[in-house]
Amino acid sequence: MTQPEFEPRDFRNALGKFPTGVTIITTKNESGELIGMTASSFNTVSLNPPLILWSIDKGARSLPSFGEGHHFAVHVLSEHQQDLSNTFATKSEDKFAGLDVTFGIGEVPLLPEFNARFQCVCQHEYDGGDHVILVGRVLDYETADCNKPLVFHSGSYAKVSHE
Ligand SMILES: Cc1cc2nc3c(=O)[nH]c(=O)nc-3n(C[C@H](O)[C@H](O)[C@H](O)COP(=O)(O)O)c2cc1C
Repeated sequence: MTQPEFEPRDFRNALGKFPTGVTIITTKNESGELIGMTASSFNTVSLNPPLILWSIDKGARSLPSFGEGHHFAVHVLSEHQQDLSNTFATKSEDKFAGLDVTFGIGEVPLLPEFNARFQCVCQHEYDGGDHVILVGRVLDYETADCNKPLVFHSGSYAKVSHE
């Protein structure tokens, strides 16, 4: 199949027209290090069985920690958690500094604040070009009272105002 040459920045801008929520996805690696990264590629897949997906850049340092069979937790962020989103979008060594972390299924680090939180096990892993698509089975979930999400749109954060 012939692939038209897209100008990368223009293509990225076009994709950015689709507003998304913002999540932080956490796990613990085999050396016991706490791993976490900001991801807006999270989406729902199936209600029964309960499945979600997200995709991770093949260049992400965290990639080896999120394969099939690994547990992870998805934290859907609220509008006041922009700074936390930025922290987990860096390559910092200690993104968890100062956070009151607890541990969940599979010893996965859980962040104290979220709009919704899904504890998952990675059930499938698919090649997705320069990303890997991870499908997680949801083992447990919680929601919080705050229903104002953090949104990402056209390369910057946005807030939702309901009609
Ligand atoms: C709003 C936002 C959404 C992001 N979504 C994703 C995503 O879905 N997948 C991904 O691989 N990186 C995503 N990133 C980039 C990663 O958070 C960033 O590359 C981070 O440094 C990865 O951490 P690591 O290098 O420690 O693995 C996003 C960044 C931001 C600010």
